[in-house]
Amino acid sequence: MKEYGRDSSLGLDNASASDATPRKVLVEFSSPNLASEFTPAHFRSTILGAHIANLHEGMGWDVVRLNYLGDWGKELGLLAVGWGRFGREEAFEKNPMGHLLEVYEKISELFRPEKEASKKARDEGQDTATIESQGIYAERDAFFKRMEDGEPEAIELWKRFRDASIEYYAGAYARLNIKFDEFSGESQVSPESIEKVESTLKDKGIYEESGGSWIVDFSKHGPKSLGVSVLRGRTGSTSYLLRDIAAVLDRDKKYSFDKMTYVVTADQDAHFNKVIQAVRYMGRDDLADKLEHINFAKAQGPSPELGKVHLLGDILDQAVSAVQDILDVEQGKPVWVENTEAAASTLGVTALIAQDALYKRATGYSFNTKNLGLFTGDTGPSLQASYAHLSAKINASSLGETALADIDFTYLQEDPWTEVIRLMAQYPDITLTAYKTHEPSMVLAYLFRLTEELANCLEEDDDGDDNGEAETAQELTGTEQSEAESPEAILAQVVLYKIARQVLDNGMAILGITPVDT
Ligand code: ARG
Repeated sequence: MKEYGRDSSLGLDNASASDATPRKVLVEFSSPNLASEFTPAHFRSTILGAHIANLHEGMGWDVVRLNYLGDWGKELGLLAVGWGRFGREEAFEKNPMGHLLEVYEKISELFRPEKEASKKARDEGQDTATIESQGIYAERDAFFKRMEDGEPEAIELWKRFRDASIEYYAGAYARLNIKFDEFSGESQVSPESIEKVESTLKDKGIYEESGGSWIVDFSKHGPKSLGVSVLRGRTGSTSYLLRDIAAVLDRDKKYSFDKMTYVVTADQDAHFNKVIQAVRYMGRDDLADKLEHINFAKAQGPSPELGKVHLLGDILDQAVSAVQDILDVEQGKPVWVENTEAAASTLGVTALIAQDALYKRATGYSFNTKNLGLFTGDTGPSLQASYAHLSAKINASSLGETALADIDFTYLQEDPWTEVIRLMAQYPDITLTAYKTHEPSMVLAYLFRLTEELANCLEEDDDGDDNGEAETAQELTGTEQSEAESPEAILAQVVLYKIARQVLDNGMAILGITPVDT
């Protein structure tokens, strides 16, 4: 039954052959930048990426979950400069990530006037080299150069930042039921692959020197719209783009993947077009054809009521406390879940996941704590409440070990039961379409439809019961008020509930939602 809605033949390389093996897909998602804020775009990539990975797994692919940390580049040089001025060991000891973020914010603030001056000069068509060769600019670039040269002291400091961040994030992802197979990152791109990209592009006449930098003029080699990009800067440092192109070669070597999917905001559409185009310039159409950028509209926020949200853990904490508030208010009302810390935590996470998965990729949304924890409407908590309600009904029944063969299903030949059956029959189509279109929101929308229909079934039994507590098994199975309903009919209904719960389980698993313990 766990298999319902899955189709493991889709991921096979040659499904009809007897020796068919699963194809390998790398799903790269989340990918935050060290020491800077975990943005709404990172959040959406995290949720969506996890769902897309799960959908592939359900369809028989061999899935590798990859986190490509922004752990290299000049911003890390800036952080190190900040560490020199504001870093304090005790504070780092106590709360590594919090302290790093604080340091980064302070140094960014100091750096801002220089950055603005440089931007102004560029806008006015002046040379920015003078501005950027002094002050914090120079310190930042010098430190990054030391990192790129592999200088032990610089690398050691950088590694402390990186390790602390990974430890922090691994914990936060676990709260979302997400586990990465690899924390890779921009720092991990091999010098050999970088060399290979540059020499190949040079051989093909695509790589040009321009004012001390090395560039690719996409507009010259097509497609025009991609413009000109720097691959290696004036100071000799590699760019985000160059590292991404080289990372494709590294991953091909390491995994020989059949497909690689980048789950990244639509803001980076041009960037990924360039990555894929550059791989083509290198004469590697075979590899370029395996690359796919799954984009999405940015989530807005955080909204003011979310307060100062900086890191993934803060977003999760905020959601849990929003749910906690609502549980406190609803105390005693039939929301089907107990007001415990564990429940609030599961509900908070579910609320965030559901809020994101409510929207198609192309639709942006704003973080909203107000409705996040509500038990009405299309929210995570209301999905959990429906699930718990259904479970309570099943647990209270005398179904026990009754054999399926003994069930008389003719009792289910009318609405709302038939409607539930009809919906359940659609489930495999839903997962298939969600998989093909990369729209996990379809699965969530389906689960809401199913729970709505189930509510119609459950409703009659719960009529007149609004304290949600101390229900007897008799009340729960509806025997009390259903004059016309025979024990056989009730048994058939409970069997249906059990099957429906399995469908809910399967759908929730795709979304990384665990049922709240009741
Ligand atoms: N760290 C990047 C950012 O925050 C996202 C990385 C996306 N993946 C990639 N291969 N470039 O913008």
